[in-house]
Amino acid sequence: MDSPENKLAASSARLALTARPRRNRKSEWARRLVRETRLSADDLIWPLFLLDGAGRCEPIASMPGVYRYSIDTALEAIEEAASLGVPAVALFPNTDPALRDPHGSAALDPENLVCLACCAIKRAVPGIGVITDVALDPYTSHGHDGLLVGDEIVNDETVAVLAAQAVNQARAGADIIAPSDMMDGRIGAIRAALDAEGFESVQIMSYAAKYASAFYGPFRDAIGTNKTLRGDKRTYQMDPANSDEALREVALDLEQGADMVMVKPGMPYLDIVRRVVDAFHAPTFAYQVSGEYSMIEAAVANGWLDGERAMMESLTAFKRAGAAGVLTYYAPRAAALLRRG
Ligand code: PBG
Repeated sequence: MDSPENKLAASSARLALTARPRRNRKSEWARRLVRETRLSADDLIWPLFLLDGAGRCEPIASMPGVYRYSIDTALEAIEEAASLGVPAVALFPNTDPALRDPHGSAALDPENLVCLACCAIKRAVPGIGVITDVALDPYTSHGHDGLLVGDEIVNDETVAVLAAQAVNQARAGADIIAPSDMMDGRIGAIRAALDAEGFESVQIMSYAAKYASAFYGPFRDAIGTNKTLRGDKRTYQMDPANSDEALREVALDLEQGADMVMVKPGMPYLDIVRRVVDAFHAPTFAYQVSGEYSMIEAAVANGWLDGERAMMESLTAFKRAGAAGVLTYYAPRAAALLRRG
């Protein structure tokens, strides 16, 4: 009777509140009624790693639950993703080290892993969009996205190769070309090269605001560039301290013909996503990069986070920030969970 709680309850006057925001949160149906953003499988793009051979599905130590697939096993996984409603996949090759050279020549090989996979996917799973990455890092012996002359990544010479790489991918059936290299002027050059070859309907999703980030570490393990990368990428990828510069980059890419733009990494850069969406009203995607995925999974493995909840909350945050969609290693898992409801 005389407990401290009871005394407190008796003495506390009712607050004369007109607004009680908690009313709209009182039950699950009420929360559903006022929910502002909704994640769906349509929002998810699945980045996927490829390797040579057949029947292979190789785990990546720094990305628990993510694999490198040979083309045949990739097809099965992509079929499954398509059946869960994932609209598109983004392909990243782990190129045989013997095929890497200083010029990234294999990027132009019509039978490289990405081109072969592209053809195979378009044949086997025609209903899914295929996004190919334009950059030289999976193909160069030094691990840079461009051509290295002395210790400089040379811009214009690189752009010429990237335009040829994009055409090579379009010939293999790529639906969306996604330049992730951050060279100046590459979107215009790629658009012109695609159009000159009759690929007017191939879209460009530009990695417009891509930062020089520590969060790419596990990805570089996945494609095998972590040990070989000479120096860093700070002369072409953006300084994480900058925000106005992202708007200038996006403006340039849209002027040059980008159909969609991307901000990368994702969660630490949601402020950039919001600014880009508000400034340009163009389809804006965010990449929940490898390090973001691995951080969550490492915490889950330690029992420190609830994996499903952390996954869905992180993906919802992208939608709330205004993203049209998210490139995420969680795509099939999140789509499966959304399907189960
Ligand atoms: C490189 C590229 C990178 C990623 C996508 N394309 C890494 C880099 O710039 O070194 C990172 C994706 C991820 O971390 O998940 N062209």
